[in-house]
Amino acid sequence: MSRTPFVAGNWKMHKTIAEAEEFITGLLPLAGAIDDVQIGVCVPFTAIQAVVDSTRGSSIEVYAQNVHAAEKGAYTGEISIAMLDELEVHGVVVGHSERRQLFNETDADLRAKVPALLAAGLTPIFCVGETDAQREGDETEAVLRTQVTEGLADVADEDLAKVTIAYEPVWAIGTGKVASPQQAQDACAFIRSLVADRSAAAAEAVRIQYGGSVKPDNAQELLALPDVDGALVGGAALEPQNFAAIVQAARA
Ligand code: 13P
Repeated sequence: MSRTPFVAGNWKMHKTIAEAEEFITGLLPLAGAIDDVQIGVCVPFTAIQAVVDSTRGSSIEVYAQNVHAAEKGAYTGEISIAMLDELEVHGVVVGHSERRQLFNETDADLRAKVPALLAAGLTPIFCVGETDAQREGDETEAVLRTQVTEGLADVADEDLAKVTIAYEPVWAIGTGKVASPQQAQDACAFIRSLVADRSAAAAEAVRIQYGGSVKPDNAQELLALPDVDGALVGGAALEPQNFAAIVQAARA
């Protein structure tokens, strides 16, 4: 079975509304009509409305970068799924290593967030990945097993393929130290085997992105790997030409 590649740009804490609109103006002529690659931009909350409006009618999907699992309540500073759904986002990035490390997002938080997003019809881009010390300590598979098993524990087997999983080794994020094709393939294949432990059909269908120092000049090699179905791109997604070049690299 062939899986449609999915390339998403995670802007992190970059771009005001004006800068976001400038990016979309640059991206639309380069990638706005591509229909053989799923394309997403993961946008700061403040620019979501503007980007949803400026991408309407194009093939560019809009994602938020975090969400709270609770329906509503006394959670000062948090944003609910209903608030994002109202803005017509396509989905939300959850479990990014920056949120895990800097803002204490836990596997238990993700266990609540992922099914809550699916229940609302939104796509979670669910991030997992080991640190440098964990890789050096030969703990990569154990870490991925815990993150995938716990984060997806409350997703029904038949819904697993609605999740996009992003394998982002922490040591490759923002470092220019990209995973080797073998490392990326091995980890993504291992993640797929974890999904297969729950459902063979879901494992066949689920998209697994690689993220961590993806650039226009290394994207093609990574995206050609059998178990890599796309990319989650940080730094190289901040500029339309670079991002569009990575999208092009995902085309068959
Ligand atoms: P870089 O592409 O800047 O390494 O960032 C990857 C990332 O964290 C995407 O979520």
